[in-house]
Amino acid sequence: MTFALEFKIEIEGKFKMISIIGAGKVGSVCAFNILKMHLSDIILVDIMEGLARGEALDMLQSTSLIGFDGIIEGSEDISHIENSELVIVIAGAARKPGTSRLDLTRTNAKIISLIIPQIVDYAPECKIMIVTNPVDVMTYLAYKKSGFERNRVFGMGGLLDTSRYCSYLAVELGVSRDSVQGLVIGEHGDGMIPLIDYTTASGIPIKKLLSKEQIEKIVEKTKTGGMDVINLKGSTVYAPAISIATMANSIIKDQKRIVCTPTIPDGEYGLKEIALGLPIILGNNGIEKIIELDLSETEKKNLLGAATAIRSAISQVTEI
Ligand code: NAI
Repeated sequence: MTFALEFKIEIEGKFKMISIIGAGKVGSVCAFNILKMHLSDIILVDIMEGLARGEALDMLQSTSLIGFDGIIEGSEDISHIENSELVIVIAGAARKPGTSRLDLTRTNAKIISLIIPQIVDYAPECKIMIVTNPVDVMTYLAYKKSGFERNRVFGMGGLLDTSRYCSYLAVELGVSRDSVQGLVIGEHGDGMIPLIDYTTASGIPIKKLLSKEQIEKIVEKTKTGGMDVINLKGSTVYAPAISIATMANSIIKDQKRIVCTPTIPDGEYGLKEIALGLPIILGNNGIEKIIELDLSETEKKNLLGAATAIRSAISQVTEI
């Protein structure tokens, strides 16, 4: 007797599928995190012949040990993303030592402009998460190219910056990583803004536990965190990949987690026609709400400065 069963991951009566465009270093590790969370079926797509299929096959061979019964498939053909609930775009050039995220603007804008209309064609109901750098600029471009409502197009950047910030703070304090919570808004780049007044260790304001100098040192290390890794091993992988998977988890399970992420404000914080990192509630509708916080005068000034830098980069790609 022969039989073949097709398993699909079902949550609350709905089959869930996440597609990942770009099966490179971050895309493949992100897929493996999602697989280990048993979150959804996964489709990996990459233009490089064999790469996505090879990664998916490698992961499939781990599933009997992981207990993942869903679909994990790779393809060069983007039409396989059909019916995806969430499409994560991690395709494009990455930073090298000595380059900034903004240096990638024109190259990656062409890739995003190519991919987004195809996502709209094949998965018109999906949410789109952009990871490709410079992520604030690419998120805005994706929003414009997709024509989707602003809650359905967002980036991943602030959660990674927040993870770096909180991990470094926990090490400095000598406490569990779970204890430290904070927010990092603004640009995913030089213009990132760790919100010190909103950072606590189990509710205790960080300012009561560390000196001004200690906090300043950690803020600086957070800002250079990505390049510090790139200088040592060529690219950042694990921290971005788990940040993406954490956001995917909040969307698929409708967790309504509060995270900072590149999002498109419509007047919040006095900003419009831009994408940049803001605190939001992330759920099944994507951006459920942008949370407006009281900021200090310096933080407001820095947020406007970040917006100016991002707008200048956006102006370079509007014709693409
Ligand atoms: P990688 O070079 O390992 O992978 C990129 C993949 O994209 C390659 O496999 C390539 O074939 C594929 N690709 C290019 N054009 C494509 C297209 N039109 N369709 C499908 N696939 C395509 O690079 P890595 O390290 O995985 O980084 C990917 C991107 O993510 C970079 O732009 C990087 O800067 C960004 N990134 C963003 C982070 C964030 O916090 N937002 C964190 C880490 C990386």
